[in-house]
Amino acid sequence: MRAFFVAGGRLIDSSPMYGSSQKTIGHGLAALNGSVDIFSADKVWTSSGRGGPEQIDRSRVNWGVPQFDLLQVHNLLSWQAHLPALFAMKAEGRLRYVGINTSHGRRHDEVARILESQPVDFLQLTYNAVGRSAERRLLPLAGERGVAVIVNRPYRGGSLIRRAKRAALPPFAAEAECATWADFLLKFIISHPAVTCAIPATTSVAHVRENMGACRGSLPDAATRRRMAAYIEAL
Ligand SMILES: NC(=O)c1ccc[n+]([C@@H]2O[C@H](COP(=O)([O-])OP(=O)(O)OC[C@H]3O[C@@H](n4cnc5c(N)ncnc54)[C@H](OP(=O)(O)O)[C@@H]3O)[C@@H](O)[C@H]2O)c1
Repeated sequence: MRAFFVAGGRLIDSSPMYGSSQKTIGHGLAALNGSVDIFSADKVWTSSGRGGPEQIDRSRVNWGVPQFDLLQVHNLLSWQAHLPALFAMKAEGRLRYVGINTSHGRRHDEVARILESQPVDFLQLTYNAVGRSAERRLLPLAGERGVAVIVNRPYRGGSLIRRAKRAALPPFAAEAECATWADFLLKFIISHPAVTCAIPATTSVAHVRENMGACRGSLPDAATRRRMAAYIEAL
């Protein structure tokens, strides 16, 4: 976490679903002594609308933060019950942003219906150079409605970057200032006009530093993005 913040990182995403991760984040934040500018993103993940507030409070205590910047309805579970409660928290000044999320390219029709009918601030979904179904409808829709987009599984759970690292970077990677495969794969994602940020997960400090490299230098234009996707697909 220290390496992440030193490199300019801000957003950490967790969920009550992720085992001990909330407590681990709380431990890291306490060790960093409140010295970091964090954007805290967590989720509500319970089928009972009534259980939402209690779960959110437990999550907040685990993190050790006074309030969250963003709460997302995890995998759309009981979104009809949770969204009104999250909007109320926002109106009372106890939450900055409300979001929904999905992954693995699933349930895009339902996500689109929610974006069209609810004033959500954030959408989290899966998007990467070989999983581009979000380009068809959800990314344009989020862009039109001014909804911020967080991209999960940028490396397809790791398989994409492990496969890429067995090959050489193409010479045109230098045009988008990509010195590593992490730069190449992450810059492909964050250069989409509707994308706000990507959230690669890692257990390795070296990988944190490598991934944060994508925040520096220029981003690929539309033509270079097409070449990047074609190159990755052919690997
Ligand atoms: N429905 C949902 O809301 C949902 C679903 C899935 C994920 N998410 C969110 O998205 C985040 C990321 O998803 P994910 O963990 O499934 O997939 P991911 O970020 O695509 O992949 C993580 C894997 O990539 C490896 N990796 C990271 N950086 C690397 C590098 N520079 N070089 C080589 N390998 C590297 C990691 O291994 P090392 O540990 O060895 O670095 C790890 O195995 C999650 O933590 C979560 O916050 C949300």
